[in-house]
Amino acid sequence: MAKFRRIGVLTSGGDAPGMNAAVRAVTRAALAHGVEVVGIFEGYKGLIHKNFEVFHERDVDNIIGKGGTILWSDRCDEFRYEEGILKAKATCIENNIDGIVAIGGDGTFRGATDFTNYGIPCIGLPGTIDNDISSTDESIGFDTAMNTVIEMVDRLRDTCDSHRRCNVVEVMGRAAGYIALEAGIATGASAIAVKEIPFDEDAAIKKLIAQKESGKRNFIVMVAEGIPLDSAGDKQYSEKLAERIQKNTGIETKFARLAHVVRGGSPTLRDRLLAARMGEAAVEALLDGKSNLVVCLQHDNIVEMDIGYALSLDRLYKGKVQPGELEAKYTAEQIADMQRFCDEKFAAFKKLYDISNRISN
Ligand code: F6P
Repeated sequence: MAKFRRIGVLTSGGDAPGMNAAVRAVTRAALAHGVEVVGIFEGYKGLIHKNFEVFHERDVDNIIGKGGTILWSDRCDEFRYEEGILKAKATCIENNIDGIVAIGGDGTFRGATDFTNYGIPCIGLPGTIDNDISSTDESIGFDTAMNTVIEMVDRLRDTCDSHRRCNVVEVMGRAAGYIALEAGIATGASAIAVKEIPFDEDAAIKKLIAQKESGKRNFIVMVAEGIPLDSAGDKQYSEKLAERIQKNTGIETKFARLAHVVRGGSPTLRDRLLAARMGEAAVEALLDGKSNLVVCLQHDNIVEMDIGYALSLDRLYKGKVQPGELEAKYTAEQIADMQRFCDEKFAAFKKLYDISNRISN
C-alpha cells in the first residue's frame, strides 16, 4: 500500500444530492486507514487558492442526509490551463496532499485526469443528477432527482385532473434524457421527449387527442432540457411543444420547468448507499496506489475504469467522437469493446423508451 499522508476530497460541477454522503464516506474510510483528509472548498478552485480545511471524524457528522455540498462547488476555468494546474499542484505539495478524490461529472473527470498527468493521483466519483456519465449505470444524485420529479409531477397531475389540463414538464439533463425517461415512466407521462431518440410530435398529439376522447382529464408530457430548438425564437423546445399541444389538441396546456429545484434536497436511500459504496472504493483504490480511475456502478457491482477510457466511452456514446480520435489511443479490440458497451447501453435506454410508449395510452 502506497504511503499516504493526506488525501483531499472535492466536489465540482453541478451539485447533486448524495455528494455529502460521498464526502463523509471518503473521510471516514481514509481516517480508518490512519490517513488525514482535507476538504477542499469550491472544487479545483479551492486547490488553486488554498481554500481547504483538515477534516476530522466529527466534521462529517450528520451530513449524510444533507442536500447540496458542504464543500461547495464550482466550474473552475483556471484549472483548464497549465498555470492553474501548477498552482493546485503546489498547494498539494506544500500541504502533503498525496491524492485527490474528485466528485462530479465529466468536466470534473477531465480535471482529475489532467491533474493525475501532472503527478497528483486522482480518483473520480460520478456525482450528477443527470446520470450522463456513460461508464456508470448510475451516478450519485440521479435517484434523488427522479424522486423529486415524481413528487412535483404527481402534484401537477392532481391539479391537471381538477381542471382537465395537460402539463408539459421540462426537467434537467443537458446531455442525457435519463431523468425525463425514468421519471416520465414513473409518473405515467403520456409522452416523453428526449434528445437521444427522435420525438414523434404528431404521434404524441394524436395520442393526447385519443386519450382526451376516451375521457382522460389529466395529461403529462415530460421533456428533457437538452432537446435542440427546432426553429428560431427565444423559447425552449418544451415551451413551444406546450403551445403546439394546446393548439392542436384543444387541451388547455400549462408549462413547468422544474430546473434547479431537482438538484436540491435530502438524498434517497439509493443515493446514500451508492455514495457510501463509491466513496469507500475511491479511498481503497487511492491507497492501493491506483490513480486516474473513475469508480462506476455496473450491474450493481462497484468497478473501476480508467478516466481517459471512460471519457472516450462517453464521447462515443454521445456521438462526439472525431474521425481517428479513438484509433489514435486504442486498439481495434478496445474500440470494438467500447462500441459494444455503447450499443448495449443505448439498447437498454431504447427498450425503456419503447415500454413507456406502450404503457402510456
Ligand atoms: O450538469 C447537471 C445540470 O444539472 C444540467 O442538467 C443542467 O443543464 C446544468 O447542470 C445547469 O447547471 P448550472 O445552472 O449550475 O450551470
